[in-house]
Amino acid sequence: MKKIFPKIAPSILAANPLNLERDAKEAEKNGASRISVDVMDGHFVPDITFGPSVVSNLKKIIDIDIEVHLMVDNPELQSKSFIDAGADVITFHFESTKDSEDLIRYIKQRQIRVGIAIKPETQINDIKGYLSEIDEITVMTVVPGKGGQSLIKTCLDKVKELIKIREDHGLKFLIQIDGGVKKENICSVFEIGADIAVVGTAIFNESNNIQYNMKSLFNLFEITEL
Ligand code: DX5
Repeated sequence: MKKIFPKIAPSILAANPLNLERDAKEAEKNGASRISVDVMDGHFVPDITFGPSVVSNLKKIIDIDIEVHLMVDNPELQSKSFIDAGADVITFHFESTKDSEDLIRYIKQRQIRVGIAIKPETQINDIKGYLSEIDEITVMTVVPGKGGQSLIKTCLDKVKELIKIREDHGLKFLIQIDGGVKKENICSVFEIGADIAVVGTAIFNESNNIQYNMKSLFNLFEITEL
């Protein structure tokens, strides 16, 4: 009987910036579904992180997809450069642009999967008009801008709402949870119905034992194919 693993997207925000190649490869080797690259511009969120060259170089050394999570004020401009760099999925924040429709159209024209991320305070009602257009919705379970925070449980209520909309309208978007996912809560995150979980510090924490950290997450899921 084959064990079914949950889809985990390690976030290199928490990886060792001097060893991104090693950490990304180790995460891929230990079952990562894709790598999440948190892009921050110092405006939309206080920190500044990665540019397109990190994506283009990661692309050369890993085979799994790269999801670029744009926490930037100008997602229109940044989308182009990260798509050119090789991003497989572009996730932009609903709160960061006045024209989500236009941006969704552009990203899809580039034959790239598109996701919208919503901050904890943003409601499903604010973005439900886009759900038929996008491939993914990322429900932030922390305030965007840094790793290592605690998961805000009330945000998970949005997952149930999204699942109902998806079923009622026969839509196909994936639901991603991002922020504060750890051993203590990852099972409930998937039981509630998330399709993918972004995980940073629980994988790339100071112990730096990526293999052990990922195995301990997967081992919590004793789901086997019936
Ligand atoms: C916040 C980031 C984090 C990160 C995950 O802006 O998006 O949520 O990816 O980090 P952890 O797993 O450490 O909360």
